Amino acid sequence: MRRMIIDCDPGHDDAIALVLAHRHARVAGITTVSGNVPLAATTANALLITAMLGVDTPVHAGAARPLAGEPQHAPHVHGESGLGDVTRMAHDRAAAGDDAVGFLLDAAAPDVWVVALGPLTNVALAIERDPDWVKRIAGISLMGGSADVGNVTPVAEFNAYADPEAADRVFRSGARVTMCGLNLTHQVMTTDAVVARLRAAATPAANFAGEIFDDLHGRLERLTGFREAALHDPCAVLAVTHPELIESSPRAVSVERDGTLTRGMTVVDQRRGLRGDPANANVAYRIDAEQALQVVMESLDAGTESLGVGTMAP
Ligand code: BDR
Ligand code: CA
Repeated sequence: MRRMIIDCDPGHDDAIALVLAHRHARVAGITTVSGNVPLAATTANALLITAMLGVDTPVHAGAARPLAGEPQHAPHVHGESGLGDVTRMAHDRAAAGDDAVGFLLDAAAPDVWVVALGPLTNVALAIERDPDWVKRIAGISLMGGSADVGNVTPVAEFNAYADPEAADRVFRSGARVTMCGLNLTHQVMTTDAVVARLRAAATPAANFAGEIFDDLHGRLERLTGFREAALHDPCAVLAVTHPELIESSPRAVSVERDGTLTRGMTVVDQRRGLRGDPANANVAYRIDAEQALQVVMESLDAGTESLGVGTMAP
């Protein structure tokens, strides 16, 4: 099993990614960051998920604000709590510390992946404190950016938009980066068939996940008119645990920090045959969506049979 640290901002899809990671990897720790909701809420949600899973993975709180500018949140997608109105089991867990960056640096090892599912503030701060850290880890698999559309703006994805300065540092760091952007994650959409299957499975993890997807589908339906959700963050876990499901290509990725229309955009050099900057990331382009959804459903105790899976319509 691969070893990983999950840096996240739960977040409905972060929560599913955390369950998936605990089923298919050795999770050395969870670090939290301000993102979908403020830091106190993302940390509380990470602790709730460890309680629900019955695991003792340490949770370290990290950055409460981005490197520059004001914190950006997404309560319209994730609710004020970050997990909408899902049932919160009682527990008495507390964070192991509030130095996520120190934990990321100390836990580095050649076989440890950092799976980054939120704004890249903690990861960028770790690189700032020790630029050689990136050579002491296996790599960084991140959900962020896009090689086509954005979601916060027409061209910027939320995690990159919420801290473009941090994303820029990560892409320039020399780390082995796998980028799972919206161009990839929009290929794996969940619908109410997923909710029905989870309800039928009725284990604690399946019940929790069923509530997560039902709540998220409802919020996105009110927001966009479509009752479906992309399985964003689990893709970055799968890129480490099930790399055979994902096809990627080396690309030069830069992050726009200045544009009035384009701040937070990941500019991916996809020109054929022209020489630009050297590649600094493996950009994920295709995923076996059917198989990916089955792996996720299995990790949620909800069977292996095919559900059929849709791609977000352009
Ligand atoms: C990303 O932003 C958040 O809303 C999700 O958790 C995911 O990490 C998708 O743009
Ligand atoms: Ca996230």
